[in-house]
Amino acid sequence: MIEEVKKHLKEVNSFSSKDAEEIEKFRISYAGKKGILNELFAAFRAVPNEEKKAYGQELNTLKTAVSNKVKFLQSEFKDTGGNSLIKDPSRTPFPLETGNRHPLSVVKNRIIDIFTQIGFTISEGPEIEDDWHNFTALNLPEHHPARDMQDTFFIQTDPDILLRTHTSSVQVRYMEKNQPPIRTISPGRVFRNEAISARSHCIFHQIEGLYIAKEVSFADLKQTLQYFTNALFGNSKIRMRPSYFPFTEPSAEVDIYWGLETETDYRITKGTGWLEIMGCGMVDPNVLENCGIDPEQYSGYAFGMCIERIAMLLYQISDIRLFFENDVRFLKQFKATL
Ligand code: PHE
Repeated sequence: MIEEVKKHLKEVNSFSSKDAEEIEKFRISYAGKKGILNELFAAFRAVPNEEKKAYGQELNTLKTAVSNKVKFLQSEFKDTGGNSLIKDPSRTPFPLETGNRHPLSVVKNRIIDIFTQIGFTISEGPEIEDDWHNFTALNLPEHHPARDMQDTFFIQTDPDILLRTHTSSVQVRYMEKNQPPIRTISPGRVFRNEAISARSHCIFHQIEGLYIAKEVSFADLKQTLQYFTNALFGNSKIRMRPSYFPFTEPSAEVDIYWGLETETDYRITKGTGWLEIMGCGMVDPNVLENCGIDPEQYSGYAFGMCIERIAMLLYQISDIRLFFENDVRFLKQFKATL
């Protein structure tokens, strides 16, 4: 019996391999469930009493030898490298190249995160809209000159159907279905019949915000937007300039103070230090009424911003077309922190 153990010990000591599969086969043949070691241990009972001690010692030597041999060969294998995970399970995983989010998604998610933390819900609407939701309900009746503010793609066969020019259409849909208090933001893609250049594109993305409740004032709007710009850009100074939108009254454009530290600052702020980031205002009572909300009881504010514009400011990107070219050298530079 002991002779057999000794024979195996010799075999183990002389075994060598640089092939991970072979090493694994060797390990299993000795240390596996149905392996030689277990067989030999099972045979222990049949060993005559006077030989038991020597047999046991020899068997333990064999067991240690197997385990040392496997460890040694595996470590040697690891040092020389391998080319398959299966061949060497102890090797660190391949540096698999993972994808990352599109910069517009990164920025969109950051904005969503900021607003959902203060109780805004997320709502969406269709990209193919009807005239009512995109224009008429928003206080832009047919032939209203302000319709020209947004050059529109119409569906040729039906002038009532168009590609939405802004996410304000989602406001209308949301108010038609929900009564105040309303707190929602609507991210989405919008379309305008405009020439493509470094600064404008016929397809872009907006996020709309809408808050309707009792006694909502312009101060609430300003405070919310200050909270938002602080959260997104770090502590920031904003100002509101009077503006015009048919669906809000009063209306304003929001500028953020960018500074004039570098030449680029001068260029992008046109020497003023300020950058426009969104439009906003108090929802016009006509819009509330069009959507079935009583303007005597409720008031609210709305705002809308272009995600591309915010992303261009945050990442200092000078050409909007880069977002749509899907050049991986561009896309790879953005890592989501959310
Ligand atoms: N819809 C406007 C635009 O696309 C932005 C806006 C939204 C302005 C809500 C005021 C209130 O330019």
